Amino acid sequence: MDGVIEVQHPLVDHHLTLLRDKHTPPALFRQQTHRLAALLAYAATADLPLQSKPISTPLTEMDGRELAVRIAIVPILRAGLGLVDPLQDLLPEAEVWHLGMYRDEQTAQPVEYYCKLPKDGACDVGFVLDPMLATGGSVVSAIAALQRWGCPDIRVLSVIASRPGVERLQREFPQVRIFVSSVDPVLNEQKFIVPGLGDAGDRIFNTLPPN
Ligand code: PRP
Repeated sequence: MDGVIEVQHPLVDHHLTLLRDKHTPPALFRQQTHRLAALLAYAATADLPLQSKPISTPLTEMDGRELAVRIAIVPILRAGLGLVDPLQDLLPEAEVWHLGMYRDEQTAQPVEYYCKLPKDGACDVGFVLDPMLATGGSVVSAIAALQRWGCPDIRVLSVIASRPGVERLQREFPQVRIFVSSVDPVLNEQKFIVPGLGDAGDRIFNTLPPN
């Protein structure tokens, strides 16, 4: 799976373990999601093109470098919102375009309820954000929307993915790279990632159903 980059780093393992733990409360879960998003972003931006930028330091003139591409950050509502801040922090000039999608609990199919991507003027690079890629349906739908927009370089950042989900993504969009902190082996009968971390949206926004 050439396009699947499972980021290897001790901090990823450390922070992911806390994220998975069912005893981790929402406030810490959000912080861990931020930390992992920053680590994924570091890997996912490693080959962004640069152009020369002449500047004056307090001491002399020099040729600096700046990003040479227009970038879109595209969170899938709602859980993808939990990854936006670290990406925006690292890419302060990026545009943020939201896609609203939820997974129907009976069919596990994505239902799109919000898309404000413009018809033209696509960015050069689009980062799709969603902490979970389970069946892959939501991310596949988001990639299709970015392709219709005309974005030529689409990259997915997902904290945790399932093997069947990434295989589907690779089959349908072999040119799209996905950056993850873990590819977990299976989905259960409810199409939840196992071992996984539960429902990221509910844990980020503290909307878990009462026991
Ligand atoms: C979750 C998750 C992904 C999707 C993954 O969202 O955040 O968007 O399911 O499943 P898939 O790969 O099978 O499509 P959910 O439907 O719980 O909505 P939410 O983000 O509003 O909580």
